[in-house]
Amino acid sequence: MSLYALLKTLHVLAVVLWVGGMVFAHFFLRPSLAVLPPPQRLVLMHAVLGRFFAAVAVAVAVVVASGLWMVGRVARQAVAGGGSFSWPLDWSVMTVLGLVMAAVFVFIRLVPYRRFARAVQAEAWPEAGAALADVRRWVMVNLVLGVVVIVVATLV
Ligand code: HEM
Repeated sequence: MSLYALLKTLHVLAVVLWVGGMVFAHFFLRPSLAVLPPPQRLVLMHAVLGRFFAAVAVAVAVVVASGLWMVGRVARQAVAGGGSFSWPLDWSVMTVLGLVMAAVFVFIRLVPYRRFARAVQAEAWPEAGAALADVRRWVMVNLVLGVVVIVVATLV
């Protein structure tokens, strides 16, 4: 087993946690919460998202670091072998969209999620609901980007 293979495995496992978690939250957890009254729904989402975003912060660091390391490794080997390195199209798309996804995650965590957490603590339910709707919109953006990246990485 090479270091490259190990990093690629970690890369894909972190992507599974990140993108799979977004699919679960958006398509399975959220619609099922309608059975609870709003305060309980918002308190539960606060607990779920706090845990999920802590795990995603680690996953994002692993995805970006392992991805850039793999690109660097291939580029170094090409140059050491006397050739030149040009980014394959799928790697370029993955790198650009991957960095955009990481930036969107940092934004979600620092802006709408923080607003949501403060509103839940203050028991300001309408404000919490509005902030959670913002979190959901941005998570949807990352979910679409994530699916595009996976399709490009595996199909192109
Ligand atoms: C800075 C961001 C990223 C960089 C630099 C990067 C780079 C790479 C590289 C170099 C590979 C190895 C390709 C190979 O050996 O064939 C790879 C594999 C992969 N990446 Fe990324 N990646 C990034 C972000 C992402 C994101 C955000 C996703 C998904 C949401 C993703 C999904 C995948 C998948 C599914 C593979 C496996 C592809 C295959 O083996 O067919 N990557 N990535």
